[in-house]
Amino acid sequence: MVSDFDVVVAMDLKQGIGKAGQLPWKLSGDMKFFKELTSKVESPGKKNAVVMGRKTWESIPSKRRPLPDRINVVITRDTSFAVPPGVIKATSLDEALSSLEQSLVERCFVIGGGEIYRLAVAHPGCRRLYLTEVKSEFDCDVFFPQFDQSYSLLSPSALQEDNGIEYAFKEYVREQESGIFPEEAE
Ligand SMILES: NC(=O)c1ccc[n+]([C@@H]2O[C@H](COP(=O)([O-])OP(=O)(O)OC[C@H]3O[C@@H](n4cnc5c(N)ncnc54)[C@H](OP(=O)(O)O)[C@@H]3O)[C@@H](O)[C@H]2O)c1
Repeated sequence: MVSDFDVVVAMDLKQGIGKAGQLPWKLSGDMKFFKELTSKVESPGKKNAVVMGRKTWESIPSKRRPLPDRINVVITRDTSFAVPPGVIKATSLDEALSSLEQSLVERCFVIGGGEIYRLAVAHPGCRRLYLTEVKSEFDCDVFFPQFDQSYSLLSPSALQEDNGIEYAFKEYVREQESGIFPEEAE
């Protein structure tokens, strides 16, 4: 069982994250950031886990899934939903975390989409938000949820740009980890 996880998301100025089952933008620098963050491990023999909703799983082209070098976990209420060998299926976020073997998993990332982010940011196990802020407004039909003030912003990155679209990497940490109010962490 894994108890802690981080969230990774790219969202626009209105917290839009998706349109018609796909990402509303193509940002190669953000894709590279996502791949490196979610794949990189310190301990040989361990892997990171990526936990996603069934619709996000289906948004990944079939030849690109499961996401390589990571343990893929798909959340669905449909117990007959078919996933390839090696991919874990879970009926809730808690079941997804319980299904991961702590000794084999270095870090766990919740990677979307909107329904699963809603569960994740309110979950006590959520430690960090890696949030790519896209500095434009897109026509979106799925949104990132509001998150409360227990998340504090660390310094954002310098502005990046792909295809004329500007964006910045932001990292939010929950207070008990940042040590801002250490007495509350006890
Ligand atoms: N910008 C980003 O960083 C980013 C990242 C990821 C995804 N996205 C976008 O987000 C969109 C998809 O998001 P979405 O909100 O529509 O779908 P989603 O969160 O990916 O998946 C929703 C599905 O998850 C399952 N689910 C949700 N809550 C559950 C619960 N409490 N217990 C068990 N299963 C549960 C259900 O699957 P079943 O219906 O099978 O039961 C539900 O239909 C796409 O447009 C995608 O491109 C954007």
